[in-house]
This record gives sequence, C-alpha cells and structure tokens, in this order.
Amino acid sequence: MTGPRYIHNLALIGFMGTGKSSVGRMAADALHFTFLDTDHVIEARAGKAISDIFAQDGEPAFREWERRIVEELTRREKTVIATGGGLPTDPANLASLKSHALVVCLWASPESIWERVKGHDHRPLLNEQDPLGRIRELLAAREPHYRQADVLVNTEMRSIREVAQHVIHQFHMAQSAHR
Ligand code: S3P
Repeated sequence: MTGPRYIHNLALIGFMGTGKSSVGRMAADALHFTFLDTDHVIEARAGKAISDIFAQDGEPAFREWERRIVEELTRREKTVIATGGGLPTDPANLASLKSHALVVCLWASPESIWERVKGHDHRPLLNEQDPLGRIRELLAAREPHYRQADVLVNTEMRSIREVAQHVIHQFHMAQSAHR
C-alpha cells in the first residue's frame, strides 16, 4: 500500500445476493453512519430503474453512472456504502473506494447466491435461460477483483446480523490501526 489511509467510510463490495444492502443497513445503524446504496443513487439520478437503464441505454451507460457516483463518494464521511456487484470490476472504482473507505467483500458460493436471488427479477444480468451458469461464469470472472478488498467475509452459514457484527469489528480494527 502507498501512503497513509484515511478510513472514514465503509464500503461493501461483492456479487449480487451476498447481502451488501442488508448488512450495510445494519452496520450503518450500529455505527451511526449514513447508509448509501449506489444502485439507489443511480436510479434516483437517472429517474428510472436499473433494468430500464440496461434495456434502454445499455450496460456501458450504467457503468458510466457507477463511475460518476464513485467519484462523488470521495467527499463523504461516516457513510456505509453498498455497491452494485459489478462496480469493483473497474480497478479505478476500487482504488477510489480504498482512498477513503475500508473495502469489505461479502462472499458466497454460486449455489447460495442463486438461492438468494431467485424469485427476484430486477437484476438484468440474471434474466437468462441458465442463471446459475451465468452466476458461476460472472463470479469466476470477477473473483480477482473481489479479492482486492481489504477484508473478505464468507457469508455462508452466517446470519445477516453475524456478518454485520464481523464487518463492524473489522472496521473498528482498521480505524484504530490507521488513526
Ligand atoms: C450488477 C449488480 C446489481 C446492479 C446491476 C448490475 C452486477 O447490484 O448494480 O444489476 O453487475 O453484478 P446488486 O449487486 O446490488 O444486485
């Protein structure tokens, strides 16, 4: 790592369905931080659902939204940020998050992810003939990016509360180490 880090935010990265939003909300409550979900910010700014952005404007337009929001996050303090699953695949996004936040990746197997996301139809990347196959493929391609997180947390066999507690603990440790 180069230079000191000033960690005043907590960023959660990881694949769809790993619990970033639920864990993030719980951690924000416990830390008395603001909670922000990049997908929600994009929907509010664009004035339409993510699935409509993908369908009408294409995935590159959505990724451009993500880059713009990530840049703005550098000005935030005391914020827990839940990111869209594909956001850290742009190394510049990950580097930017690391400049102000502890980056924690939530991890789960493709099978658990599928169990958690099936029945929800708002994720355009999984509206496919073989969603489990697509999850396997995307997760394998993204794994090297997710592994760049400061902390990797396995969410298998753990409740949202347990994962949140673990994440909060890691955040406190990182803050005292970098103070
Ligand atoms: C995406 C994940 C989604 C959302 C978009 C693309 C991805 O967010 O950003 O559908 O590329 O993995 P969640 O991870 O919150 O589902």
